[in-house]
Parts: sequence; C-alpha cells; structure tokens
Amino acid sequence: MRIIEHAPLGALNTFRVDAKSRFLVILERPEDIPALLADPCFHGLPRLILGGGSNVLFRADFPGVVVKVALRGIGLVEEDAAHRLVRAAAGESWHDFVRWTVGQGWPGLENLSLIPGTVGAAPVQNIGAYGVELADVCEAVEAVDMATGEVRIFDRAACRFAYRDSLFKQQPGRWLITAVTFRLPKAFAPRLDYPGVREALVGSEPAPLAVSDAICAVRTAKLPGLEADQPGSAGSFFKNPLVPAGQAEALRARFPALPAWIQPDGRSKLSAAWLIEQCGWKGRREGDAGVYAKHALVLVNHGRATGAQLWALAEAIRASVRERFGVELEPEPIVLP
Ligand code: EPU
Repeated sequence: MRIIEHAPLGALNTFRVDAKSRFLVILERPEDIPALLADPCFHGLPRLILGGGSNVLFRADFPGVVVKVALRGIGLVEEDAAHRLVRAAAGESWHDFVRWTVGQGWPGLENLSLIPGTVGAAPVQNIGAYGVELADVCEAVEAVDMATGEVRIFDRAACRFAYRDSLFKQQPGRWLITAVTFRLPKAFAPRLDYPGVREALVGSEPAPLAVSDAICAVRTAKLPGLEADQPGSAGSFFKNPLVPAGQAEALRARFPALPAWIQPDGRSKLSAAWLIEQCGWKGRREGDAGVYAKHALVLVNHGRATGAQLWALAEAIRASVRERFGVELEPEPIVLP
C-alpha cells in the first residue's frame, strides 16, 4: 500500500481537475485493507474510493483519504452449457476487460465497450450504453465494508441496481468493491438497435468483437476519448430525467421533437441532451469549462478549468433547463463538496 500526502489528483480524474487530496492511498493488494482501516492517521477523515476517476468532479481539494483501487486479475471462474462466469478485480480497466472477453469470442459485454473507468466502478453507477446495462450481466459484487472491515458478496438483487444507480452509490465511501463476477450467456444475441450500430458493422455475420468495434466507432463519433488531445470530461454529466407520464405528455404537446422513452414503471425518460441543446448550451464555453460541441450532455475541460468553474457551468445549465422546461437535471458523476 503506497501512501502519498498532499497528492495531486489531476492525473487521477478524467476531467483533469487539478485538485489535491490530503492523503492518497494506492491499494494494490486486498491483504492491505485491514491495515488501511486500522491506520490512525486516517481516522475521522472523509474517504473516497476511486477507480478510474471517470465519474467524479472535485470542486475543491479533498480534505481526507482518496483510496485508488489498483487490484488486478481476470479469469474464467466457472462455466456450464449456457453461461460463463467471469471474474475481474476492481482495478482492471473496464474497456480492456471487455476487449479481453470479446477477444475470446465471448458475448455479453460488447455494447459496453469504450466506457471509461474501472471494473470496480462499473456497478456503482450501473454503467449502461447502447441498450445494455451492467445490471443485465452482473452475477455478484465483492466488497469490503469500510466501517467494519467485513467482506460481503452481493448478488445482483442485493446491489439494488437502477438507472445509473446502486446501493454502492447510495452509500458513498462505505463499500470498497474488490471484484465483480459477470454471468455471460454463451449464445450470442447481438443488440444492434441503437441508431448507427448496425451500419457500423462490416460483414453480415456479426461476432462479439465486430460489435465491440462498431460500438467503439459510434461512441468515438459523439463522445470525447481519454487521449491527451481530447478535452477532459466525465462522460454524460447529467442523467436523463425521469418524469411522471402526465408531465411528459404536457411537455411533448408543447415540444413535439423532445425525445422521450416510456419506462416499465409508467414514467418517461427525457433526453437531457435535447433539453440542454434547446437552451443554447451545445458547444458553448465559459473560460476553459464548456459543453462538448458534438454532445450537449457532456461537460468538458478545455485546459485549466477548476472543479468550481465546471460546477458553476453545470448550475447555470440546470437553471436554464428548469426555467424553460420545468425539469430538474441531476448530475450523473459524484460531485464532491
Ligand atoms: N441529442 C440531442 N443533442 C445532443 C445529443 C443528443 O438532442 O447534443 C438527442 C439525440 O438526438 C437522441 C437523444 O438526445 O435522440 C439521446 O442521445 P444519445 O443517444 O446520444 O444518448 P443519451 O441519452 O444522451 C445515454 C447515456 C450514455 C450512453 C448513450 C447511448 C445517460 C446519462 N447517458 O446518453 O452514457 O452512451 O445513452 O446508450 O444515460 C454516460 O453515462 O456517461 C454515457 C455516455
């Protein structure tokens, strides 16, 4: 376990916000967790468990302990005629893990290609894209209770997955996820309905690897990557708002072009990107904080924006969507005080 005091976090968050943490702990071995919990230096300090830093906004320096989870290891645990159980340690790169599975010809994760972050962060916000979410393929999550040191295995129901939400997101700092096991179906049932995916596939017999390549192409056309020449970002900055059916109908009567999807519970999910674009924010810039020109849901750091500046922009966007449409936008990343 490496401990760094007054650690710069710019390279540890994909917004590239230049905040510092009072302590940074790099956790490479699960055996070090008891020592981490017992260390008197850290008692009484706020804690943040960090994966790839792709879903967090530091508005200021962090006055506590950031635990960067760097646990490694991937493997096939078990298989039967219909499924494979594949386990990955929390610190593995999500995209590299997806590519490893599709590289073996194993279907299940291809639509979740190129999502930034780590395996351990994936259940926290129940990552999802192009018609699949983590909850569809998650078998179990292994985690340590940071309050007691107890090791727990959560089955899928216990994770309380919902749209970009889970038990782990609801209880910040409590659970240190150490590994995730996935149940991957052996039968390949490609999900190609999202606009552009089918078109991006070359050849008529799609394999998991080819679908993964197509998803990468569709994503790259709309969302910033992690390369140095791309602006810093945390993917979608807002969730798509869920509103009661009556409110969605009233809005659609006034704005027939508003994209809306009816949910199993009767509510409607509205396109936050559309609402933001209609308010004139797409491609706008306030200093180095801006809204991505190719996708209105993505806030970007063009250079040296601070977390406070990015948050001020987010608040201005929320206020204009609230005023024009009467809809409240909720941030998707964890926004630290
Ligand atoms: N749209 C606009 N303006 C824009 C962009 C999109 O009006 O600038 C409209 C599109 O025309 C479309 C609708 O908004 O009708 C939805 O756009 P898109 O398909 O790009 O998806 P999204 O709802 O904006 C969600 C996820 C993404 C995920 C995509 C694809 C959330 C918060 N975001 O975005 O996830 O990749 O669907 O499945 O649910 C992330 O969470 O970080 C993320 C990138």
